[in-house]
Amino acid sequence: MKKLSCLFAFLLLALISKAQEVPQLANVMARQTISLNGDWNYIVDIQEHGYYDYRMKPSSWGFFRNAKPRKPEDLIEYDFDKSPTMKVPGDWNTQDEKLLYYEGAIWMKRDFEYLKKDNKRAILYFGAVNYDARVWVNGQFAGRHLGGFTPFNFDVTDMVKDGKNTVILLINNKRHAEAVPTQIFDWWNYGGITRDVMLVDVDPIYIENYICHLLPQPIGKKRQIEFSVKLNKAEAGKEITLTIPELKLKQTVTTNDEGKATMILTTSSSKKNAIQLWSPENPKLYHVNICMDGQTLTDEIGFRTIEAKGKQILLNGNPIFLKGICLHEEKPNGGGRANNTEDARTLLSWAKELGCNFVRLAHYPHNEYMIREAERLGIMVWSEIPVYWTIAWESEETYKNAERQLTDMIARDKNRANVIIWSIANETPHSPQRDIFLGKLAQHARTQDSTRLISMAMEVTGASNYKNRLQDNMHKFVDVVSFNQYVGWYRDVNDASKMTWEIPYDKPVIVSEFGGGAKYGLHGPKNQRWTEEFQENLYIENLSMLDKIEGLSGTTPWILKDFRSPRRVLPGVQDFYNMKGIFSDKGEKKKAFWIIKKWYESK
Ligand code: GCU
Repeated sequence: MKKLSCLFAFLLLALISKAQEVPQLANVMARQTISLNGDWNYIVDIQEHGYYDYRMKPSSWGFFRNAKPRKPEDLIEYDFDKSPTMKVPGDWNTQDEKLLYYEGAIWMKRDFEYLKKDNKRAILYFGAVNYDARVWVNGQFAGRHLGGFTPFNFDVTDMVKDGKNTVILLINNKRHAEAVPTQIFDWWNYGGITRDVMLVDVDPIYIENYICHLLPQPIGKKRQIEFSVKLNKAEAGKEITLTIPELKLKQTVTTNDEGKATMILTTSSSKKNAIQLWSPENPKLYHVNICMDGQTLTDEIGFRTIEAKGKQILLNGNPIFLKGICLHEEKPNGGGRANNTEDARTLLSWAKELGCNFVRLAHYPHNEYMIREAERLGIMVWSEIPVYWTIAWESEETYKNAERQLTDMIARDKNRANVIIWSIANETPHSPQRDIFLGKLAQHARTQDSTRLISMAMEVTGASNYKNRLQDNMHKFVDVVSFNQYVGWYRDVNDASKMTWEIPYDKPVIVSEFGGGAKYGLHGPKNQRWTEEFQENLYIENLSMLDKIEGLSGTTPWILKDFRSPRRVLPGVQDFYNMKGIFSDKGEKKKAFWIIKKWYESK
């Protein structure tokens, strides 16, 4: 009877103080936050018995209760506070060698002090958790999120209390056919709370998201900036002031009954206050203030235009060649998921050394530090959602999941001047279901952001007699036609010079992957696989082959550095690393580095 009344009390409480997932808070770094990063206790739960009872039914006595024995005879068979800790943000695979290969469920717990404030809401924000995250605050269910590479947040105002609070997550990174990404992918399935966690204080009515960008058409020497803002509530009559001090711009707009507002600001034509456009040579960012009811959100925003015209990509109206490289979000030296500015700076400085003005962040949205550091360094970005290989095209749930990740990727980074391309997929098998799925995604991307280029990494569809053809129905939906090709590695070694390319679309072309593996320090004849000389020669041949492609507007060789992959098991060479890096995992330059660098100097 006593257990039943507790259960009833528990269910009632869950119902009353139901937290809710709220749309992503834009520019969270500029808000009033308490960091919940640091040491979190963890419990490995291989059979999820902390969540399901022995009948595989969700148990109301689960580990989310963080229960402690109250009387000597009480039976509690877990104790977070006596359990080991790991760092957040951070993946579990590289923090506990027993978990290097682990895919499954792990509980994580952290206590935090909080002081409730009148007239404030408390939003619990996660930069990313891979893959399936259930969240409880003080034993109450806050919500669940699927997807390992985009932010999510819950309004937990009715769950937090003054003093000590506890947040608990059940995380599961098991792979599933209907998931995004699906069951197989060529990168390490790092699990855990891989990015920042913070508690954000906001007013009951707050600025949820905004976009501030340059309109394409100059008006004489003047330029126009469009600013749109959305509140968390459909509140009319709210005055929002945008100030860009350096441009001597200050203007106010009032929200409509949807809690939205848009205005156009016109820059001065005087030389002194003329706007400087963001570019790799001059990655100019302007300090921007967005004020409402005494709340101020600050941001650093660059202004530029990006468009595709015929077979050219135009940045600020001028043709540009995207000298790129692909990279995964992985720290060097076997360090697991990259998750801070220092990691970003290290990886991006290697790309800069290579002569890059562009990076393809593969195959999922990387953390915000990577995007913002690239913006400061003048590096343009291709950002992608993990619709990778054999996705469950016919599953409505899978589509919703992919669309949600696309929405969240754009919502977080749409004010970043350096982000020029949204990519909706990589190497996906042709079928009518696939075309419908991807077609819908491309159109959805345009509803979320009409100011950037849409692309995806396609595959060569026919290659007989050295004639390579690219035929893909998705060409109708993209602004830039991109494809991966592995001449010299997976096919046609030493035949690059004979190759011709047929790409029957009047759109710019990016070769979004090419390359081959090499073990740093392994030397030998150029036809000896895995030697630096083999990789060097492959690039010599590939780059002169690519130079023949009409409308080539960019390249992103695969890949900046060797990276962990469960699909690479050759002993003494791969040892669970994909060795196609131009740099080793330690940052050592392979011979191919200088081939690409020289080619980019010629561009
Ligand atoms: C594919 C894929 C990459 C992979 C690479 C490789 O094209 O897109 O994710 O790592 O090829 O085979 O090394």
